[in-house]
Amino acid sequence: MENIHPNLLSVAPMMDRTDLHFRNLIRLISKNIFLYTEMINVNTIIHDQNKRFLIEGDCKGPVALQIGCSDPILAKQAANIFAKENFQEININCGCPSSKVVNGNFGACLMKEPIKVGKMIDAIKEETDIPITVKTRIGLDNFDTDEFLEEFISELHSKNVKTVIIHARIAILKGLSPHENRTIPPLNYERVKYIKNTFKDMNIILNGGIKNLKEAKWHLNTFDGSMIGRAAWDNPWMLSETDNLFYNNKNNMSRSEIIGKYLKYASKYISLGHSQRRLVRPLFNLFYGVQGTKIWKQQLNEVANNKISINSIYDLSSQLEETIEEAA
Ligand SMILES: Cc1cc2nc3c(=O)[nH]c(=O)nc-3n(C[C@H](O)[C@H](O)[C@H](O)COP(=O)(O)O)c2cc1C
Repeated sequence: MENIHPNLLSVAPMMDRTDLHFRNLIRLISKNIFLYTEMINVNTIIHDQNKRFLIEGDCKGPVALQIGCSDPILAKQAANIFAKENFQEININCGCPSSKVVNGNFGACLMKEPIKVGKMIDAIKEETDIPITVKTRIGLDNFDTDEFLEEFISELHSKNVKTVIIHARIAILKGLSPHENRTIPPLNYERVKYIKNTFKDMNIILNGGIKNLKEAKWHLNTFDGSMIGRAAWDNPWMLSETDNLFYNNKNNMSRSEIIGKYLKYASKYISLGHSQRRLVRPLFNLFYGVQGTKIWKQQLNEVANNKISINSIYDLSSQLEETIEEAA
């Protein structure tokens, strides 16, 4: 199976953010945008005693599973499980700088071990033909050259990896927190461009610092896709023009219509025992920049604290929608 859906615009994998419920909200905003799970450790997949992993595939459209892994044997065991789930892509995390990940010897430090990454790719391929992609940085610590990144990508190329997502910053493994690693090392889009020019037959997706759809679209002049992380969480409605601008498709639902549909989805998971807090969380920033967003957040906090039912937010969302229409 090859990549059937063009990954022109995607929402980045973000721990504690791009969970199942956030992905399902974004899927209502755009049918076509490519979504990524949070990084899931292969051990969690293999020892999934509470059957938490099995719900991860419950999101329609193009979704990639991002795995954290450094051992080909474990990669193969996990692949045997995730191959049966509903994912369009398996993405190997070779970019995360957190100390937890580095101690497990995966994430960004895998950039120094391309052969090991190649072995994991081979191991996963033994179990599934879902396309495998890699998300990486432009370098790490003192390995901050075009040649170092080129050598890493070259190994992926030799393993027939068609798509690589590159966060255009180096990772600094000692001395910077994950948060600082997303702000302090400077963006270097030129190095990503060098990789695109060197590996013309690969899809190179740019990530890092993209703030809106206009910028994301502009980068398609150079790259094969754009990936947006923090800006999508801070203002999910920003993605509402995705189908129109990137996929020549229409998705005309208003925010309150989307909320109506999301509430139906939420009732299913509440009946399965998920908390209102988890279900309401993706909605907090939906009225970003709109007058009345403060009242919206106050009401959502009451839902999160189980003072009111999640269904009661629908009326407020319609009122806010009317305010926006009147102001327009
Ligand atoms: C809260 C948070 C959690 C993240 N978790 C992951 C993760 O699980 N896997 C990953 O590859 N990158 C992770 N990232 C990095 C993002 O995928 C992305 O590379 C980074 O935020 C840069 O893109 P941006 O400037 O558009 O936010 C995370 C970022 C944030 C803000």
